[in-house]
Formats: sequence, structure tokens, C-alpha cells
Amino acid sequence: MEDITCCVKSCEKPLDQSYWDLQYQSETTGWDLGTISPPIKAYVDQLKDTTISVLIPGCGNTYEAEYLLEKGFANITVIDIAPTLVEKLKEKFKNTTAIRIIQGDFFEHKGSYDLILEQTFFCALPPQMRQKYVWKMHHLLSKNGKIAGLLFNRSFEVSPPFGGSKTEYEQLFSEAFHFKILETSYNSVTPRAQSELFFVFEKKSEVIVQCFALSGITCSNCTKTVLQKIGAITGVINAQINSTFTDLIVMSTNEISLGQLKEVLAYEPEYSIALVD
Ligand SMILES: C[S@@+](CC[C@H](N)C(=O)[O-])C[C@H]1O[C@@H](n2cnc3c(N)ncnc32)[C@H](O)[C@@H]1O
Repeated sequence: MEDITCCVKSCEKPLDQSYWDLQYQSETTGWDLGTISPPIKAYVDQLKDTTISVLIPGCGNTYEAEYLLEKGFANITVIDIAPTLVEKLKEKFKNTTAIRIIQGDFFEHKGSYDLILEQTFFCALPPQMRQKYVWKMHHLLSKNGKIAGLLFNRSFEVSPPFGGSKTEYEQLFSEAFHFKILETSYNSVTPRAQSELFFVFEKKSEVIVQCFALSGITCSNCTKTVLQKIGAITGVINAQINSTFTDLIVMSTNEISLGQLKEVLAYEPEYSIALVD
């Protein structure tokens, strides 16, 4: 089984439904461990409440769902964008009602979950989606809900997977989540040893996280000015703009209206903004 180095040698194409489906059609799934990863297994083993709702995004062959089922969990949702894979999963789990299988885009999914498991989904997304991932996770979690799983603590020459570092994750997640654990995983599979972080983040329920779609911003200097202006709005704790200047995430103590943000951006007629729901 190939691991870490991606099975895809060049990644000019957008990482959309066709891209992922093709990986399953051609069975180039080098990320697939063939079993639940030991850190997630150990985490699941210490969970006591089997009635919680669990979501597994970018689920792939979802050995996690299989294991949760074995352990008596009965409220499991898995979602993946690749139709070929999802057809297989529907067949595999046809005799259970404990696993809800959804074919679709995680970023369009609606729901509320006590726990979300992360296993090589974050690293499969283009890095410019990371701010949106934080918003979506926060949005999908119930009060005090948690995300738990693994994040790579290394870079890659060929992507996907896209790497990252502990410092980056701290900056990305810390305003929206309480960090329960973020440490080098001691029980990773051998090819990933010392290169992944096990994490458990609890939703900061007191923080409001909103996502807005931006257009017209074309440089990082412009984002600095925009972020400074947004940071000055009463109640804003933190604001982030992604590397392609298309997503704005605002974390605040009270809801920030689209009108307030439009006013802030009005100094530059080229800029426009819309709420992402
Ligand atoms: C690297 S694979 C990991 C699969 C599985 N978690 C595992 O570890 O074996 C990434 C998965 O995310 C899915 N995916 C990518 N973008 C997605 C999106 N926007 N929404 C839902 N699934 C997505 C892909 O189809 C693929 O199955």
C-alpha cells in the first residue's frame, strides 16, 4: 500500500467531484489505510456515550464508521463527494440503519453533530479552503461538540495531500475552538509516524463564526487593510481572509451583519461581499 506520497503525481486539475470520483474509479487511493487509524480507534475506545451523533466528512471507505457501528454507536453520518465510492458504501452498509450515507459536498451539508471525525479530509482540501473548513466545522457542531482526528505536521512535495504545521493549526482554529489535545500522535501507522498530530478541539459555543464570500480583493496588502477595518467593529474577536481572497471568516461575540461589513468595504467600489449560509 502506498502511503503519504500521493498517488496523484500532478495536480493541475481542480479537486472537485470528477477528480475524486476518478481516483475511486481507477483505484488510485493511496491514502486508504484499509483499517481505522490507531489514534482514532483509541479515541473511539474511550468514548462512553454511544448515543452521540457522529459525522465523518470526506469519509472514503470509512473504516471509522464500521468501527463505531461495531462499538454500538447508532447515529453515524458519513459524507463524501465521490459517487462511485458512495454507491459502494450504500451496498456495504445496506443492512444497517445506524449509518446514514450522503453523497455530496461537505461545505453544503446541513446538520448538527456532537462529534466530527477527521481522517485525511482536511489535507485533501486545497489550502485556500481551510478558513471555510473551520467555519463549517464550527457550524456543524452542537453546543460543546468536538472535532477529533489527525492533521499532518509536515509538508509534501506533491499534493494532495496538503501539509501543515502545529503553528498554522493553532492560528487557524484557536479563536473558534478550545484545544483539548494537539500533540504528535504516539500511535500513528508506521509510514505516518512522527508526521501527524492527534487533536481534539471543542467548539467555543460562545463564539459566533460567520463566513462571507468576497470578490474584488486582489492582494495581501488589501486584505490587511480590510482585516484592520473589520477588526475594529465592536464584538469582532478575529477575522481571516483565505489565500485566494475569496472567503472571509469573522469570529465575534455577537452577530455581525452583512450591512456592517458592506459599510466597512464601501471605501473601495470594486469590493463586494455576500453571506455564506
Ligand atoms: C484523501 S481522501 C480520504 C478518505 C478517507 N477519509 C480515508 O482516510 O481513507 C479524501 C476524501 O474526501 C472526499 N472529498 C473531497 N472533497 C470533498 C468535499 N468537498 N465534500 C465531501 N467529500 C470530499 C474525497 O472524495 C475523498 O474520499
